[in-house]
Amino acid sequence: MISIEGLSKIFALNKKKITAVDDLTLHIEEGEIYGVIGYSGAGKSTFVRLLNRLEEPSFGKVTIDNQEITGLSTKQLRLARQDIGMIFQHFNLLWSRTVADNIAFPLEIAGIPKAERAERVQQLIDLVGLSGREKAYPSQLSGGQKQRVGIARALANNPKVLLCDEATSALDPETTNSILNLLMDINQKFGLTIILITHEMHVIRKICNKVAVMEQGKIVEQGQVLDVFTHPKQQVTKKFVEQIMGASEQDDDISELISTYSDGKLLRLHFIGETTNQALISQVAKKFNVEINILQGKITQTKAGGYGTLFIQVKGEDEEIETAVRFVQEETSVEVEVIPNVD
Ligand SMILES: Nc1ncnc2c1ncn2[C@@H]1O[C@H](COP(=O)(O)OP(=O)(O)O)[C@@H](O)[C@H]1O
Ligand SMILES: [Mg+2]
Repeated sequence: MISIEGLSKIFALNKKKITAVDDLTLHIEEGEIYGVIGYSGAGKSTFVRLLNRLEEPSFGKVTIDNQEITGLSTKQLRLARQDIGMIFQHFNLLWSRTVADNIAFPLEIAGIPKAERAERVQQLIDLVGLSGREKAYPSQLSGGQKQRVGIARALANNPKVLLCDEATSALDPETTNSILNLLMDINQKFGLTIILITHEMHVIRKICNKVAVMEQGKIVEQGQVLDVFTHPKQQVTKKFVEQIMGASEQDDDISELISTYSDGKLLRLHFIGETTNQALISQVAKKFNVEINILQGKITQTKAGGYGTLFIQVKGEDEEIETAVRFVQEETSVEVEVIPNVD
């Protein structure tokens, strides 16, 4: 769907050259929600602006839906941009226009007749949940409502791709969630391909299928969100995973657990894409003659299921514990590690 090959952007700033995007190659499938995460200055905004040529590439090729964007004339590009919606961190609304007129703006540019425009605007307002606010001005709206206007405007011409540059970074956590839910809705309803730029791992966790990690203009790691969470390779990726999981357990923590809970067996459960983790614990406790004590752990929910680790103490006959462990290993996607007693 989107194919990016050898894409670079070099800025010249007072005779100094800054390579903001450095020979970047990436392929994105239709209907994906593809996250790009990186720290400030990594080149994320420049990258996303190269895709619709808000920024002209220095080198490289961008193809969207079989159309080579980098080869288009200015006039052709204007038309092609109707297929590429974009939303921004600070919304970029027109302050002197009402909600309805902001959403109508791209339709006016596309030359849609007035009656048709009004009908489309109403559909979009309903879609993003702003009914009743048609005549309000941006200054009268909350941050979340402003971004809803931004989304409606971006979708006005039925684009195939939506680019989101830090679209929730100016919003509080609750509003962020509601906007992310709206983006997921739109992705499912219309099969819209979404590229989502962020510096926040919980945004990736919640809605992305795939993620690329960007550092110094390059993609240093990419893949399915769960794979990247489970096996982060680069230091920068490990830091991002720690944002939501905390640092992983140190050997010290584990030996303390071992000495404190020395009776029974100490197990570490690794959840990788399991959707029923609470149910699993109670199911095991019911099914087998064992007593389970949950000690510590960190589990987070990704779009593809739960991910994280949980330490539990299991008390009972050795044989019964073994059967319970085997049940978990064979019947679920959870990996079980028996922590050996050091005595
Ligand atoms: N118009 C510009 N002129 C010169 N340098 C720029 C320009 N835009 C971005 N940069 C530089 O390119 C690098 C990447 O910036 P940016 O794409 O905004 O990163 P991010 O969005 O990841 O924070 C930074 O070093 C930034 O200073
Ligand atoms: Mg940016």
